[in-house]
Amino acid sequence: MIFDTHAHYDDEQFNEDRDELIGAIHEGGVGRIVDICANADSYRAVLELAHRYPFIYAAVGVHPDDVGKLDEAYFSQIERAACDDKCVAIGEIGLDYHWMVSPKEVQQEWFRRQIDLARRLKKPFVIHSRDAAADTLSVVKDEKSWEIGGVMHCFSYEVEMAREYLNMGFFLGVGGVVTYKNGRKLKEVVTYAPIEQILVETDCPYLSPTPHRGERNNSSYIKYVIEEIARLKNMESVAVEEITYQNACRFYNLSDS
Ligand code: NI
Repeated sequence: MIFDTHAHYDDEQFNEDRDELIGAIHEGGVGRIVDICANADSYRAVLELAHRYPFIYAAVGVHPDDVGKLDEAYFSQIERAACDDKCVAIGEIGLDYHWMVSPKEVQQEWFRRQIDLARRLKKPFVIHSRDAAADTLSVVKDEKSWEIGGVMHCFSYEVEMAREYLNMGFFLGVGGVVTYKNGRKLKEVVTYAPIEQILVETDCPYLSPTPHRGERNNSSYIKYVIEEIARLKNMESVAVEEITYQNACRFYNLSDS
């Protein structure tokens, strides 16, 4: 069975056919999904989905592009939402110096505050890091994040950087990019990383794998990601599927039955 560890089914791109699509998701071999907050205000919709479907879990947090909307009162709301029984992680949180919607210092401050939230709630966290390799690593190390546990979602850096996270016991989130012709860097990382520290993800509706690149993504397309990981690691697809499912259960503290 497939575990989609990072999805955004609350996104408006699913408004037309969300329930239909999710209702048929098991037929595509998908067992579990974690739906993750991509905006400051998406936690309500994310938790609602997680309560509607037993096999969907939530990650609550504020994306670095949206931390400008945070203040103490709003952060308290996020904190309350993150206490929900179906919330299995804090995310996605981190640093995005590509869009640089908020200044670096502001992003770093809220990244630290949300790592601290993960520590207090004893839940792992999901990192979004874009064009911010050095600062992400320094915050993560400074916060002794190996005591909490994390995943580098949509890992986009070099093998040397992957080694740093793997050594801290972190997981690497691998999605559609690994199937792209220009995905050489990620293919190298996947070849290098132990399969026990890889999670598969869609980031749907974004980042559809080949042969659906450019279309709206959904969890059933993860099979293409799994096939490519299997090819790179010279394993059977079914073994990659089973091991990454177990990895995800371990990471999110869910029983594997
Ligand atoms: Ni995402």
